Amino acid sequence: MEEARRRLEELYQLLERHNYRYHVLDDPEVSDAEYDRLFREARALEAQHPDWARPDAPTQRVGGEPAEGFAQVAHVIPMLSLENTADEEGVRAFDARIRRMLGTDDAIDYTAEPKYDGVAVELLYEDGGLRIGSTRGDGAVGEDVTHNLRTVRSIPLRLTGGRPPPTLEARGEVYMPLEGFARLNEERLARGEEPFSNPRNATAGTLRQLDPRIAAARPLEIFVYGLGRGGERLGARSHWELLDRLRELGFRVNPRAQRGDLDAAIAFHRELEAARDTLAYEVDGSVLKVDDLALRDELGALERAPRWAVAFKFPARQETTRVLEIRTYVGRTGTLTPVAVLDPVRIGGVRVEHASLFNQDEVDRLDVREGDTVFVERAGDVIPRVVAVVRERRPEEALPFRLPEHCPVCGASSVRLEGEVALRCPNLGCPAQIKERLFHFAARGGLDVDGLGGKLIDQLVEKGLVRRPSDLFLLKRETLTGLERMAEKSADNLLEGLERARHVPLARLLVALGIRHVGARVAALLANHYRTFDALSSSTREELEAVDEVGPTIACAVRAFLDDPENAAELDRLLALLDVQAPETAPPERAPLDGQTFVLSGTLSQPRTALVRRIEGAGGVVTASVSAKTDYVVAGESPGSKVRKAQELGVRVLDEAELEALLAGG
Ligand code: IVH
Repeated sequence: MEEARRRLEELYQLLERHNYRYHVLDDPEVSDAEYDRLFREARALEAQHPDWARPDAPTQRVGGEPAEGFAQVAHVIPMLSLENTADEEGVRAFDARIRRMLGTDDAIDYTAEPKYDGVAVELLYEDGGLRIGSTRGDGAVGEDVTHNLRTVRSIPLRLTGGRPPPTLEARGEVYMPLEGFARLNEERLARGEEPFSNPRNATAGTLRQLDPRIAAARPLEIFVYGLGRGGERLGARSHWELLDRLRELGFRVNPRAQRGDLDAAIAFHRELEAARDTLAYEVDGSVLKVDDLALRDELGALERAPRWAVAFKFPARQETTRVLEIRTYVGRTGTLTPVAVLDPVRIGGVRVEHASLFNQDEVDRLDVREGDTVFVERAGDVIPRVVAVVRERRPEEALPFRLPEHCPVCGASSVRLEGEVALRCPNLGCPAQIKERLFHFAARGGLDVDGLGGKLIDQLVEKGLVRRPSDLFLLKRETLTGLERMAEKSADNLLEGLERARHVPLARLLVALGIRHVGARVAALLANHYRTFDALSSSTREELEAVDEVGPTIACAVRAFLDDPENAAELDRLLALLDVQAPETAPPERAPLDGQTFVLSGTLSQPRTALVRRIEGAGGVVTASVSAKTDYVVAGESPGSKVRKAQELGVRVLDEAELEALLAGG
């Protein structure tokens, strides 16, 4: 009992601190997910012991304090927060509570909207003109950031459509689209400035600028999703109608919103989650709002959040955790890569224990040290990365990290090749490199050997049984069954896997060899051009360069690989063991999008990465911004400034169907 009470006090203190760091300093030291967990824990304790809840507790408040330096703006109707839940059970409980309170068994209609990860603002219009734009602040009083909001192009300065009431307060979320965010961070890095850790921080930081020219140069957008004061709710009876009215008045309202029953809302949430990585902006969940405004009035609000809405959150993508150690990992080509070993955390449903730090430059940029508390992000299927360090939590004894001067595996002196950032272990016989080369050789894009995983490769190399790819094909059944944890069945599986892998298309063999600059695409081009390994290996550098899309760098790398005596000897051995197959199809005609430059804009119906791959596969190039050199801009749903720019420059704008036609060679 006493302990629970102490815990609640402790939670209050933690929440206060995190509120302050987030809202006032724009410099949080825990992830949103961590904050939500603390918040929910406090709420659960309060629910068990209602008399313990202090009226001034952070759980009873809406947000942060308004920052100094800005005029304060009172929100006549408080800008409330949302209760949130992380699972479907919570959403069903929310629905059940509502029906209980309304005393009905009938299904409730909800409007479901994305939950934007930005900054909530209120826009006051008087007689149709924008007077004041403010942040939410603590919900009762926010900061006057009119000067910056006026620079946001999707915020109307005058309402031209419909008939606006004399006083109208539109509410919505200002956010920074992901592409603009990436570009902004690139520019900041180039100028030696700290990058923002996420688009929301970038948005908050931009709105807090005193000089509106800074905001004007940054790509902010708004989605309007609600109302403060405003002439009898614009005559709307439902939230759905309200969104329509707001749209008519000229506000940017997300066309993705959807109305339906609870199951439809949950389906909306799932679809949004599946589309998450393809959206042009960051969302951290969906918001379910009782659609009928009369029912909302009946339900009312609690201290900090209305009873008629709930935020249904996605699994978080960022978490805070500690760097236990920074290890140096030796890659296939000897590159030394620093890797953070983390106190394991679950991010988006996956346990994360490592995050790549890429190279010394990145370590220096982040100034990440062993013992540091860091923000780790895992987006989609991208490998986890460290986005920021919480300086305040650094242990006193933490020292800057430097990649070692010697290879941590074989002890060779590490070298830096001219013109490269990376440090390398120069020893081709380094066990780490041997293992990685074998792993690459047997991996999916290469020979795709079933039954040969990392652990087994480690054992085979450490026991001296395998040094080079050709050794794999000489392994005997007795040798394999003598290995640790190797049952007869696994040995047979591996032998069968090797036998199947022996019959290999030329392109996959080229990938498996791990020649620098030869990935899947270049390998396919070379295979189609030469058709046999002999033809390829007897061609000169000049001949290689004559192959479509093969430049001097690739030609040089291929020749250097083939001319190396060790490689040549290994190739002789391998080719005697393998059955290399010529490409099935005749060499393709010129690629349909050969040399054409594309820019993608807006939300597309397929993952961006997939589309980029397809365009590149057809010979096209995808770039980030529109210029006179751009051939086509592909516009998805709610495209942004790029389409405008394309029109200004006379660049052709395609929809997805037109792009498909081009890809098909039409
Ligand atoms: S409705 C009382 N709709 O979430 C209703 N809020 O935790 C509250 N947010 O401060 C606002 N997307 O910053 C609403 N579609 C959406 C939203 C949304 C993001 C944010 C907003 C608000 C916070 C509440």
